[in-house]
Amino acid sequence: MLTRMAYLHAVGLALLALGGWLSLCAADVGDFAPCLNFFYRSWPPKGLSGTPICQRYGNQYHFASLYSRPRRSPRFSAYMFSPPEGKRPPANWMFEPQLANTTADGNMTPFPLGELDPNVVNSQAVQLDYTNSSYTRGHLNPSLHHRTQEDRLSTFTLTNVVPQKFGSNNGPWETLENQVNHTLGSYCLGVAYVVTGVIPYLDNKHWIKGHRVAVPEYMWSAYCCPKYNKSLLNKVNLSKVFPTYAAIGRNDPNSTEEIVPIDKSSHKWFWGYDVRRMPLDTLEMYLKERFGTVISVFYEQCSGVK
Ligand SMILES: *[C@@H]1O[C@H](CO)[C@@H](O)[C@H](O)[C@H]1NC(C)=O
Ligand SMILES: *[C@@H]1O[C@H](CO)[C@@H](O)[C@H](O)[C@H]1NC(C)=O
Ligand SMILES: *[C@@H]1O[C@H](CO)[C@@H](O)[C@H](O)[C@H]1NC(C)=O
Ligand SMILES: *[C@@H]1O[C@H](CO)[C@@H](O)[C@H](O)[C@H]1NC(C)=O
Ligand SMILES: *[C@@H]1O[C@H](CO)[C@@H](O)[C@H](O)[C@H]1NC(C)=O
Ligand SMILES: *[C@@H]1O[C@H](CO)[C@@H](O)[C@H](O)[C@H]1NC(C)=O
Repeated sequence: MLTRMAYLHAVGLALLALGGWLSLCAADVGDFAPCLNFFYRSWPPKGLSGTPICQRYGNQYHFASLYSRPRRSPRFSAYMFSPPEGKRPPANWMFEPQLANTTADGNMTPFPLGELDPNVVNSQAVQLDYTNSSYTRGHLNPSLHHRTQEDRLSTFTLTNVVPQKFGSNNGPWETLENQVNHTLGSYCLGVAYVVTGVIPYLDNKHWIKGHRVAVPEYMWSAYCCPKYNKSLLNKVNLSKVFPTYAAIGRNDPNSTEEIVPIDKSSHKWFWGYDVRRMPLDTLEMYLKERFGTVISVFYEQCSGVK
């Protein structure tokens, strides 16, 4: 009896130890497996390559990003929308220690006041890259689209940020984020999955700080809300915005107008930073054109579950 109990005890301890070891080893960088819940039907967008990051803050996952190491910026961030409450938190910018060192802490970490580990500087964008760059830090996953303070604070990591012109970030792109907030907050009844990403320049010649961080030519965004208030279909024309909706925004007034035309009557601050709303399949057509491969943002274009 005693030996049997001792045996069970030992097995229990071993399982506990194994559990602890597994949770320590669940990598935040390199695999979306621990954070598939941020994607509609656990299905990350197909067709884009990069380094998956499960964005962990305060020991919890808050969203997911696909990171491009050569560009030192994300290709997209994926998150679940929740209606915001209260004010935008003060920015306390963070980095991803595991991009520099796979055995480092998986939580995003505030930039230290003093000197940064050169491995961190090599592996990702840092605060200095944006200083005097003429670009703002543009969130892909915006703080505005989250209810909890932790979700909001977790968006302030440079692995969720791309160089975005002020005229876009504080103009038409911000208007889009507000509009999506209102549409989803008012009519989406279940979970809304959002993916926001970038379209690189064709010539690959736009960088900040020499050749450190790549500037995107356009930003794009799409959401999938499979469960929405259909009783409003007659009152408000929602057929175009549910279950999916997408947009592409300019980040350069010099870009041609084939993808997004310029509204010539815009205020001079925002001139050339227009956002064009479009159906999901139109966005995917432009992504295919630019990346030269089929890009699917949502599983079965968000129509998989009824
Ligand atoms: C990586 O992180 C581990 C744990 O913090 C540390 O012991 C090791 O020295 C680091 N390696 C490098 C190359 O910085
Ligand atoms: C940014 O520009 C200002 C004004 O030209 C200059 O004083 C400052 O040293 C620059 N900072 C960096 C980090 O380049
Ligand atoms: C977001 O939408 C909610 C309504 O769902 C609204 O109360 C709130 O003011 C909006 N926030 C912003 C910043 O537009
Ligand atoms: C849908 O919208 C109608 C009209 O505003 C409202 O009466 C109803 O409660 C809403 N349904 C749900 C499930 O929120
Ligand atoms: C709503 O949009 C659909 C699709 O574009 C269009 O056919 C329909 O006429 C619109 N309905 C209203 C009431 O505007
Ligand atoms: C647009 O082109 C002008 C003239 O070539 C150049 O000075 C400016 O820096 C360009 N703007 C951007 C955002 O690249």
